[in-house]
Amino acid sequence: MLYYIIFTAFLTLKCQNIDGVYGQISEVHCHVKSEFEVDIEKIFWKKDGVEMPMSKFIKGNLSGDERFSIQIHNKDQSKTIVLTVKDTQITDQGQYQCIVVTDRGVETTAFTLRVSANYQKPNLTSKDIKRGSKVDLICRTSGGYPLGHIHWFDMHGTNWSRSAEVEVIEMPDQRFEMLSRFNADSDLGSFNCTVLNSKWEFRYSEIAGSLHTKTNNIAAGVVVIGSLICGLLIVLLVRRRRSQRKFTSSHPGMSPGLI
Ligand SMILES: *[C@@H]1O[C@H](CO)[C@@H](O)[C@H](O)[C@H]1NC(C)=O
Ligand SMILES: *[C@@H]1O[C@H](CO)[C@@H](O)[C@H](O)[C@H]1NC(C)=O
Ligand SMILES: *[C@@H]1O[C@H](CO)[C@@H](O)[C@H](O)[C@H]1NC(C)=O
Ligand SMILES: *[C@@H]1O[C@H](CO)[C@@H](O)[C@H](O)[C@H]1NC(C)=O
Repeated sequence: MLYYIIFTAFLTLKCQNIDGVYGQISEVHCHVKSEFEVDIEKIFWKKDGVEMPMSKFIKGNLSGDERFSIQIHNKDQSKTIVLTVKDTQITDQGQYQCIVVTDRGVETTAFTLRVSANYQKPNLTSKDIKRGSKVDLICRTSGGYPLGHIHWFDMHGTNWSRSAEVEVIEMPDQRFEMLSRFNADSDLGSFNCTVLNSKWEFRYSEIAGSLHTKTNNIAAGVVVIGSLICGLLIVLLVRRRRSQRKFTSSHPGMSPGLI
């Protein structure tokens, strides 16, 4: 027993915590250090206290979840165990334990894998509701993790976020869809829906122009109709001139006083 303790005292194992990104590769590096040459016999992994199917690493053979793989790099007396997770999922997030069995003893350590996912560019829709000049604006973004924020600003920069109602839907893969509903006063013009992640970092913003385009459409209509009328007047004048010219040239004897 004493013999075992003496040997393990020379063996250290350290893994780093890791921040993974949804759908991407996450790599955890664990360093095994020893005074002596060590031979790794087995590596066990536990996630939140439960042994993982990919635990069995016996002298080079690995079995289990094919998204997970293990590589061992040797450098002098120290070895690095690299755990690679392909296509990282939100469900991979958790507290892991790494148990390394060597010919010189057993070492255990823990590390945390955190996963985040980026919210998508929001979709902003407006739906007219039949009262006053109020308009329902809906800003929807999905595929993010952890929970973020949706803020609303009007064109003067006033923050309307407190007046909005937020609905959160958990997607089957545990990412979030956020939907913010805001009953806006259309007299205030356009609105800006801004998506922030859980760290309050700006992700995207989108402008609801519908309130503004309505007035723009009317203005544009006036311009179009106005120019049509002008055009018609010009055409009429030109025609009148031409018919008068024709009239005077074909009947040179007639008095021009008719014009
Ligand atoms: C590794 O797997 C191969 C093929 O399945 C097997 O022949 C070999 O004995 C295994 N090696 C160890 C050390 O388990
Ligand atoms: C936004 O709308 C488009 C087209 O309807 C759709 O493909 C996309 O997934 C939507 N995005 C979100 C975040 O809902
Ligand atoms: C807008 O209002 C929300 C909710 O009150 C607040 O959390 C956020 O910090 C404000 N944003 C700015 C830029 O003032
Ligand atoms: C929307 O508002 C945010 C916060 O004020 C600002 O950072 C962003 O540039 C605005 N987006 C647009 C398209 O104006």
